[in-house]
Amino acid sequence: MSGKVENIVWHNSSIAKIERHEKNKHQSFVLWFTGLSASGKSSVANALAHTLFEKGKQVYVLDGDNIRHGLNHDLGFNEQDRKENIRRIGEVSKLFIDSGQIVLTAFISPYREDRDSVRKIVEKDEFLEIYVKCSIEECEKRDPKGLYKKARNKEITQFTGISAPYEEPLEPEIVLDTEKFSIEQCVDQLIDALNAKHLI
Ligand code: ADX
Repeated sequence: MSGKVENIVWHNSSIAKIERHEKNKHQSFVLWFTGLSASGKSSVANALAHTLFEKGKQVYVLDGDNIRHGLNHDLGFNEQDRKENIRRIGEVSKLFIDSGQIVLTAFISPYREDRDSVRKIVEKDEFLEIYVKCSIEECEKRDPKGLYKKARNKEITQFTGISAPYEEPLEPEIVLDTEKFSIEQCVDQLIDALNAKHLI
């Protein structure tokens, strides 16, 4: 990819983001769920989305496994492809934020630098890093898709936590310990945090 932007002029939107916030009666932002495979990112994000939807909020989940079926179907799991995966989702999240929505992303996003890059392209307070904390031992025990087993048998290479790195967030806005707390308890923690920050 060249990264060149030539002969392209930015066109301002006729609807300001703040007008969308006023209409929706909430802020727009991304909750960036990061953590190992099987840590609970998608489960918590989807449960939270349901709760927010029931409360009348505009919300959408972007999930790694799903996005890799479509938009990012051309990407694999080497470092460069994961970087591109996160870069694209960062840009998509920015568009969702601009459209006034609450976007919940569930990607392993193993590299700190990539997560920080997304934080930088949106405004302050529009990016909340949610570390879905779960030990590799517990994730491997859960193994809902049988991928840890395949990774141990070397049928899958570059598997996060086994043969590829995961860099824990250093200063996440929220930590959810899915070994200690149920999905419902995690959702409650997130709703409390969003209320405390006056985001919803
Ligand atoms: S990321 O590292 O680029 O952020 P992403 O969240 O999109 O990963 O996709 C992770 C999902 O892909 C996992 O939940 C798992 O189902 C599947 N997967 C397949 N191969 C791998 C692999 N080598 N490492 C991690 N996840 C993998």
